[in-house]
Amino acid sequence: MAMEQARVTVFDTTLRDGEQSPGCSMNHQEKLRLAHQLDRLGVDVIEAGFPIASDGDFEAVKAISAVIRRPIIAGLARACPADIERAWEALKDAAHPRIHVFLATSDIHLKYKLRISREECLAQARESVALAKSFCDDVEFSPEDATRTDPEFLCRVLEVVIEAGATTLNIPDTVGYSIPAEYGELIATIRRRVKGAQKVTISAHCHNDLGMAVANSMAAIAAGARQVECTINGIGERAGNAALEEIVMAMRVRHDRYPCETAIAAEHLFPASQMLSEIVGVPVQPNKAVIGRNAFAHEAGIHQDGVLKNPLTYEIMTPQSVGVPDSKLVLGKHSGRHALAIRCEQLGYEFDRRALDDIYRRFVRLADKIKHVEDHHLLELIRETHKPASSATPLFEPLATAAAAAAGNSNQEPVKAFPIAAQPNGFGVPLPVGIEQHHDQEDYLWGV
Ligand code: KIV
Ligand code: ZN
Repeated sequence: MAMEQARVTVFDTTLRDGEQSPGCSMNHQEKLRLAHQLDRLGVDVIEAGFPIASDGDFEAVKAISAVIRRPIIAGLARACPADIERAWEALKDAAHPRIHVFLATSDIHLKYKLRISREECLAQARESVALAKSFCDDVEFSPEDATRTDPEFLCRVLEVVIEAGATTLNIPDTVGYSIPAEYGELIATIRRRVKGAQKVTISAHCHNDLGMAVANSMAAIAAGARQVECTINGIGERAGNAALEEIVMAMRVRHDRYPCETAIAAEHLFPASQMLSEIVGVPVQPNKAVIGRNAFAHEAGIHQDGVLKNPLTYEIMTPQSVGVPDSKLVLGKHSGRHALAIRCEQLGYEFDRRALDDIYRRFVRLADKIKHVEDHHLLELIRETHKPASSATPLFEPLATAAAAAAGNSNQEPVKAFPIAAQPNGFGVPLPVGIEQHHDQEDYLWGV
């Protein structure tokens, strides 16, 4: 597929559509903190909120407009004067303000929700975009439920709002109903059929109800959309919005198929994901693409061996490229000698072949019983098989105590200890940021 090199605008709606997801609401300070992180990440547009929705939302949009000066700051408004005026009031001090007006266009929404005719819908869309334009040059229009709207009618609405001054046409798959070929085709149809479409930006806005939000967004980009609306960690209404980190990395890793640029500084993706997760208190699923705890973890022996020889064997992007400091080899029953030897080295032990074989046999027996062999388990094994030279300062407490503590036997006094190096995990081994220690290893260590 030959595609022109193009710049795709990243429109982040974590603070608006994302915040609408159950359990993900944020207070004013939290929104500001995240907005700074989105700025560092390099998003082009921050949709800061829905100013008429509450005083809190209004204040947050106003505060973000005042302090975040590089990106465009967007505020959402229904297609009515009160919403548009309130949005402008919140946005007017922004360096680059955008009013985002939406109005449903599908027959289902017109009939059951808005109770208006198609003609009334056309008039309302035209008047509200014109009003927004009277305040602000940058106006985005979203025909809500676009993917279930009669395409003929959708094109008419889009022509009318272009005439009224809209500069971005966003095409929401509001209910996550579309599939990639169909959504791509819709974008292509709009570009081909709507008068004036060539002079405005076409934008994708996809929900994940069928798990296709990112695939749909990519199909839209391939069909000529030049803005994508997305959220960190894919949070959002119901099953969420398209995940920003996945779209950005898909474009980067598969640049051969998507020769598009974004302004995203990808090394800030993982920190942004962690910050959001911490703020809303919703953990990221471990197998989440790009930024999940297991996204760069390799447990199978063959995979571990390959990654250690050359990460290209099983990693299509480096952990560092998305801000994860290093990959974490998960030691379990599928792990091989090579991975075990490396982890032992990271813990400060090098073994000859025979000693390693011995530890490996014990390791496999243990891994059969417990799912993951954590560093403190491994240290116990090493202690059993490899007694430190008598002149050496003991690194570890006596095995019986450690085993009892690990088994939760509180009859044993835990040995007071402190980390052996200034690393967060206490073992002198840097763990990727955000990968939490499940065991309190410090209880099992002597200081050196
Ligand atoms: O999903 C949707 O339709 C929206 C619009 C308000 C853009 O979020
Ligand atoms: Zn949405």
